[in-house]
Amino acid sequence: MARKGKKEKGKGVAAMWAGRFTGGMAASMERLSVSLDVDSKLYREDIEGSMAHSHGLHAAGVLTSKERDKMIAGLKSVLDDLEAGKDLFSSSDEDIHMAVERILTERIGDLGKKLHTGRSRNDQVATDFRLYVMRRTEELVEQIEGLQHALLQRAKEYRKDVMPGYTHVQQAQPISTAHYLLSFFFALERDKSRLRHAWETAGEMPLGSGALAGSAFPYPRNLVAQRLGFPTATRNSIDATAHRDFALEFLGALGCLGVLLSSYAEDFVIWSSSEFGFLKLGEAYTSGSSMMPQKRNSDSMELVRGKAGRMLGAYSRLFTVLKGLPHGYDRDLQEDKEPVFDAAETAEVCLQVMTEVVSTLQFQREAILKKMQPALLATDLADLLVEAGIPFREAHHIVGRLIGEAEAKGISFLDLPEKSWKDVPNAAALRKKLTFAESIERRNIQGGTGSKSVAAQLKEAEKLLK
Ligand code: ARG
Repeated sequence: MARKGKKEKGKGVAAMWAGRFTGGMAASMERLSVSLDVDSKLYREDIEGSMAHSHGLHAAGVLTSKERDKMIAGLKSVLDDLEAGKDLFSSSDEDIHMAVERILTERIGDLGKKLHTGRSRNDQVATDFRLYVMRRTEELVEQIEGLQHALLQRAKEYRKDVMPGYTHVQQAQPISTAHYLLSFFFALERDKSRLRHAWETAGEMPLGSGALAGSAFPYPRNLVAQRLGFPTATRNSIDATAHRDFALEFLGALGCLGVLLSSYAEDFVIWSSSEFGFLKLGEAYTSGSSMMPQKRNSDSMELVRGKAGRMLGAYSRLFTVLKGLPHGYDRDLQEDKEPVFDAAETAEVCLQVMTEVVSTLQFQREAILKKMQPALLATDLADLLVEAGIPFREAHHIVGRLIGEAEAKGISFLDLPEKSWKDVPNAAALRKKLTFAESIERRNIQGGTGSKSVAAQLKEAEKLLK
């Protein structure tokens, strides 16, 4: 620990930019500045970016084809070693960009010093980071489709099952269990489209922008973009190096995904409680208590619910860093990566667990049927009265009175004596129609819970996954 007031000298980080400096960084400044522990996750993107940059420098006449090939072979050897888990980093490396360049130069000699021609870490890091967001986006979309496959499969299995649908956590109307599962499926469709939008925003290649004004060499930006899998190159070099809204879009998409996962996780937690008993989660996704031997807790779903807070925190963290930055690159931007890495990794594990939980959960048919209250059919009775010519508000009132009377007596409204039903025309015939199955079948409207509607949803879901 440095004593108060005493300035300690650092170890000499980042000598590569130190031409105009006479002394080293303070140890405290080094600690503040070093980002390798975070951005080393970008090694793949950084090296791929440098390989494409070598092609660009060759096309610009800066490297001969021999030099380009040697540069690329050197970069490939660094990549292979890092992929193999070799620890090539040194405590003097400030960030991943400096580290790769240092290792390369140690391996191929002075030629390595030509790599950074016409490039700044400003356009380099923007390129790496965009590539990272694009790759993660593709992986997450694929994972979401895995979860959708699981939901579709389970929805087919539970096609004939009924359950209470809830609003305000109060039993509302009967629904098919498949309909419930498909609600999760279709919501995920929008998470994919938000992620794909973030991919498109990230999909513009910054290299050639230099520090902020553009490279002075005839650098073929579109060719470099193509090599790296970007649909296009950025259109303004200040914009390219200063802005991170692609990362915000990515985190916004993950925030929405986290919130969605958290609310289905919440359903699964309460439904697997002893009070509900609607659901059994696969044992591998629950844990016991260190004190109470009887417990089997839904920890997996509680954790997924909790991780949403973490993903939303990442979003507001980056937003807060970006607010009010002046134009051009500012070092604050180094704070952009950690929240993005963390949210992406969190989303990855949450999706994995949710997919496995959905694949293994068991709805408890009998427990569910036992808990379904006849009052779930109150809306159906009101609708039947409307069909018999009574205006809806009046019908609502009649049914409300029946429910109130039944509640006071502690019985189901269907068991009330005939005299209570006296203002209901054809009461006996109507009462026969009041079953959960009929209630569901009355809702074959597009998007409804009826079996024909659910069949159409299943078909559409299948089509979407093709
Ligand atoms: N580590 C830095 C970051 O992540 C790289 C860019 C540094 N650029 C600079 N002008 N100091 O943003």
